Amino acid sequence: MATTRFVKAERLQKLPPYLFAEIDRKKKAAIAAGRDVINLGVGDPDRPTPSAIVKSLQHHVENPAFHQYALDQGAPELRRSIAAFCKARYGLELDPESEILPLIGSKEGIAHFPLAVLNPGEISLVPDPCYPVYRSSSLFAGADIYTMPLEPSLGFRPDLQAIPADVYKRARLMFLNYPNNPTGGTADLPFFESVVDLAREHHLVIAQDAAYNEMTFSRPAPSLLQVPGAKEVAIEFHSLSKTFNMTGWRVGFAIGGSTLISALGQVKANTDSGIFTAIQFAAKTALDEFSTLTPPIRALYQERRDAFVSGMRRIGWDVPSPDATFYVWMPCPEGYTSTELCGRLLDEADVVTTPGLGFGRTADGYIRAALTVETPRLIEAVERIGRLSL
Ligand SMILES: Cc1ncc(COP(=O)(O)O)c(C=O)c1O
Repeated sequence: MATTRFVKAERLQKLPPYLFAEIDRKKKAAIAAGRDVINLGVGDPDRPTPSAIVKSLQHHVENPAFHQYALDQGAPELRRSIAAFCKARYGLELDPESEILPLIGSKEGIAHFPLAVLNPGEISLVPDPCYPVYRSSSLFAGADIYTMPLEPSLGFRPDLQAIPADVYKRARLMFLNYPNNPTGGTADLPFFESVVDLAREHHLVIAQDAAYNEMTFSRPAPSLLQVPGAKEVAIEFHSLSKTFNMTGWRVGFAIGGSTLISALGQVKANTDSGIFTAIQFAAKTALDEFSTLTPPIRALYQERRDAFVSGMRRIGWDVPSPDATFYVWMPCPEGYTSTELCGRLLDEADVVTTPGLGFGRTADGYIRAALTVETPRLIEAVERIGRLSL
């Protein structure tokens, strides 16, 4: 009997190789061998979701009306709470009907958005290093990628003037992510103003990923939509995952002008059937209680950051202290690539970190440590790394 050999679609073959495979394999082997591994590899909060949110879910899950499809582009109650949150936090006036779209996690919206705005052969401007979904979702839409290196000398922002005119001519979408994963870089309103000007000049859409907007330490992060007129050219993705320790719940939202929001809504209407309504109501509770629930989470990461960064400095590493996110972006000591260094830290100190190369070609001189373990374990990690005398 003839068999057909399955060949992956070309769009999958275009994806960059998965660079964490070797580290993953070693990590699993170390754990299976009973070694005491400290995992600073994953950006997934270790603390539980606040109990007010859990209780809200428990209550709403009992409602049979919520057991059916949630086809309404988000419960109106949640959309109104998102509008109130954005007004209180950023001073934004958003129409809950047309300028807000709940998402099954911000990743879902980021992954679908290029399908709404990019045609094959157009260019997507993607930062490097970056959260890998900007690149893969742009490739899935058939777009070409133009890589914008994030410049350490510019606070990990791209040099927008360095992008050639012929690239701007074909570019339709620019991804940005501030506060930034993995570098911890931040943006201010003047930077966002220059981006909005640029978008108008070159007919670009800006997709700003604000997943870490509430994870800042010395000053609150702005929304790009605070720039007057930004709604016409920009969409911003927000997440409840880090703000409320809710990564597993899958809930976030997009805000922006009605044209962009409805374009994304159209893709979603053809791909998913909404967020479980009980989760939407729990998300409403989270946002309604943001001002009491999030400050302790932020304070915890600040304490961990201070303990880890000062520890690393004590053992002789030149580590910048991030003003946002729970990531520490550490330059590799002389003579190491990021994969070699992560390999040594795992093999000889049982500490898992992420190689910069996994976030982009320009980042091979860095590794990322996620502060998602308790402070005593961070201190233990520092001591183990110190014993390697790198
Ligand atoms: C920069 C960035 N954007 C988006 C996401 C996705 O978050 P969510 O859980 O909302 O899908 C992550 C998750 O790690 C992230 O690091």
